[in-house]
Amino acid sequence: MKLCMIGTGYVGLVSGVCFSDLGNDVICVDKDINKINNLRNSVIPIYEPGLDELVKKNFKAGRLSFTSDLSKAVKSSNIIFICVGTPTKKNGNGADLSQIFSAAKEISKNINSYKIIINKSTVPVTTGDQLEKIILKKNNKKLFSIVSNPEFLREGEAIRDFIYPDRVVIGTSEKKPSKILKQLYSPLISKGAKFLNTSRRAAELIKYASNAFLATKITYINEIANMCEKLNVNVEDVSIGMGMDNRIGGRFLRAGPAYGGSCFPKDTKAILDTAYKFKINLSLIKSVIKSNENRSKLLTNRIFKLLNNNLKNKKICFLGVTFKANTDDMRDSSCVKIIPALSKKGAFIDYYDPTGEKKEFKNVKNVKFKNSIKSALMNSDLIIIHTEWNDFKSINFKKIMKKNNFKLFDMRNIYSLEKMKRDKINYFSIGR
Ligand SMILES: NC(=O)c1ccc[n+]([C@@H]2O[C@H](COP(=O)([O-])OP(=O)(O)OC[C@H]3O[C@@H](n4cnc5c(N)ncnc54)[C@H](O)[C@@H]3O)[C@@H](O)[C@H]2O)c1
Repeated sequence: MKLCMIGTGYVGLVSGVCFSDLGNDVICVDKDINKINNLRNSVIPIYEPGLDELVKKNFKAGRLSFTSDLSKAVKSSNIIFICVGTPTKKNGNGADLSQIFSAAKEISKNINSYKIIINKSTVPVTTGDQLEKIILKKNNKKLFSIVSNPEFLREGEAIRDFIYPDRVVIGTSEKKPSKILKQLYSPLISKGAKFLNTSRRAAELIKYASNAFLATKITYINEIANMCEKLNVNVEDVSIGMGMDNRIGGRFLRAGPAYGGSCFPKDTKAILDTAYKFKINLSLIKSVIKSNENRSKLLTNRIFKLLNNNLKNKKICFLGVTFKANTDDMRDSSCVKIIPALSKKGAFIDYYDPTGEKKEFKNVKNVKFKNSIKSALMNSDLIIIHTEWNDFKSINFKKIMKKNNFKLFDMRNIYSLEKMKRDKINYFSIGR
């Protein structure tokens, strides 16, 4: 099939490359000419394990191409995926749909034969109805179908998640696009992915309801971890015990920093905004957002306490600053709140991240990127493991530090309490 992906970010690039690997002809479009030029030279704009090889392989095979010419790409494709960003609006909680609407207007000018136009971006319920109106202004109803096909991939695991998804959700009540899309996804369905054809609005809501639920699960165990700390209970025992109940399930029950990333914070706010418009009170999601915002403050206060409320000239090392491991994505990482708060109190912060230096800290006083774990650790009073990269899982702290009077705050519970006790490390973790 001939596919066009509009937007070559985490979702558009990964799904475009994977669709081409399944034998389809895929044109990836982006308005960022720099990105397109880099991709044509096999320079990948994001960090995503395995993506590099897959781009090179399919580009070489001639099934994958990159362009900034949206008009040509739309004209020569039958299936068009919209994969542009839907960030939170500058003023308020709602999703900023300007990228979606601008892509839709561009598409509407270039429909030369029947097209299936699919929204893969995460959008508020009823956005599909609005897209239909925009495209109808310039085209006959018979020339296009608007479908919702939310994406559930996780950064860091994106290729695996795309190829082996738990489910493929297609939101349309029209037979023709439903049949064609089932065929497009058939290699994944035959490997075990569940297929759900539902209404367009239900598909849009499934994505938000899923993300809000997962954000709730994380927030829930984070609050239980606070309780464990007071009661001398190990939160990991609680998570394991809870997870043994199939109704609950063990995943997303790992206590840690506030949830972040490009999806949960913005999507929980956006569903709340939609609910407000339809006069529905989503009080539970409201509390989750509040609790998550408080979590970064709570952990910042815990760091203050670990340094006896005197951060002046204290040296703090951060290992990992992205919102989770195996991604370079800094969007809404809890570090973006915690690090400036520590710098404000007079601390000197060195950080190391396997995906390199971050622009978010360029103008924050006394914050420096170090290009190795060892150089970041040097002379630290406090080491904070913020992200769960494998690189941080077997560090010989004592050997590198060459001193005893440092503290280690492991926000991901990577190290065992027994080992830390044996190594006589002044060790602190979450909920245990
Ligand atoms: N990142 C994730 O893990 C993830 C997972 C599931 C769903 N989503 C959703 O998918 C959507 C995309 O997310 P992302 O993280 O890939 O975004 P992103 O910001 O990484 O990429 C979006 C890309 O779209 C391009 N773009 C914007 N308008 C364009 C236009 N008119 N023409 C061509 N290109 C255009 C931008 O230049 C950018 O490269 C969002 O709605 C997001 O919520 C993201």
